[in-house]
Amino acid sequence: MIDYGRLLEMAIEKLPDSYAPYSHFHCSAMLLCSDGTVFHGMNIENAAYTPTICAERCAIFKAVSEGHRDFVAIAVVGCSEEFLETEDFKREHRLPKGGGESGPCGVCRQVMQEFCDPERFDIILGHSADDYTVYKLKDLYPHAFGPADLGL
Ligand code: THU
Repeated sequence: MIDYGRLLEMAIEKLPDSYAPYSHFHCSAMLLCSDGTVFHGMNIENAAYTPTICAERCAIFKAVSEGHRDFVAIAVVGCSEEFLETEDFKREHRLPKGGGESGPCGVCRQVMQEFCDPERFDIILGHSADDYTVYKLKDLYPHAFGPADLGL
């Protein structure tokens, strides 16, 4: 099974692929399934803005549409377009220390909640393969809406 540092590094390596001509903010996510399969997602923007999809949901929807629903963790990264041109990024695949961690938006947390056990699912945020923090979904998304709220 791939380790979390490598999962984050793979997400960083894919940042240039993100399609972000409007925000110029590149996001990338690597989703790890319990059988070791990895799915990549990136933000894909749209001139009409609202059809934009985030990196995390892109990865989760790719996985679910391929028959995977048992998820262990997701590594999420984001950075500005300018940063992709720096030597730091090109040489080291290291994100800016001062830039902070790019956490998943609320909509993506809700989609994670749909498919993942919030007590066990790990969200990996950080700057490089040896500099990251692991959060449980339950800590990033407390009091989530779920089937129980629908009386199910
Ligand atoms: N974005 C993501 O891909 N994931 C998030 O969790 C937050 C935001 C994207 C959406 C948009 O393309 C850009 O970042 C700026 O909001």
